[in-house]
Amino acid sequence: MELKLKKCQDCASLVEVIRDCDCEFDEEIMEEDCDCEECNCEHCDCDDCECSCCEDMDFTCGVSCCFTPMEDVVPNSTDGAVEKHVPNIEVNGETARVYVNHVMEEEHYIEAIIVMYDNEEIKHFFKPGETPEVTVPYKEGMKAYSLCNKHGLWVAE
Ligand SMILES: [Fe+2]
Repeated sequence: MELKLKKCQDCASLVEVIRDCDCEFDEEIMEEDCDCEECNCEHCDCDDCECSCCEDMDFTCGVSCCFTPMEDVVPNSTDGAVEKHVPNIEVNGETARVYVNHVMEEEHYIEAIIVMYDNEEIKHFFKPGETPEVTVPYKEGMKAYSLCNKHGLWVAE
């Protein structure tokens, strides 16, 4: 199972998505509903327009925060060092030790290690000063993710 996170591009809040929105925004409906003569923005994200179609859009299609659709978090996509972020998986029989070789400073640390199985997930949250390490059951195909507060999401398979 894949971990799916979404991030607000404005306030940086982060949510886990169980099932994403797949509706398609119907521009014709928007034009019908829109009685604002000024409005000619393609996706109605202009700051000035206060017509209801613009306000509705953010809330009717996709996961929103700060009046803005949240964006998918893509693992291993920031400029952080791979070896300091991708979790290491050390298999010991029926268990696996998952750890990250990352600093755990007040301003920069691993917030969580998340292990995904076929139909289960294990989340472990960390605070600065703690050791980003967890021992979990080993199952073939499991995926281990780490979440750095500065460098985002990383995955090892
Ligand atoms: Fe980092």
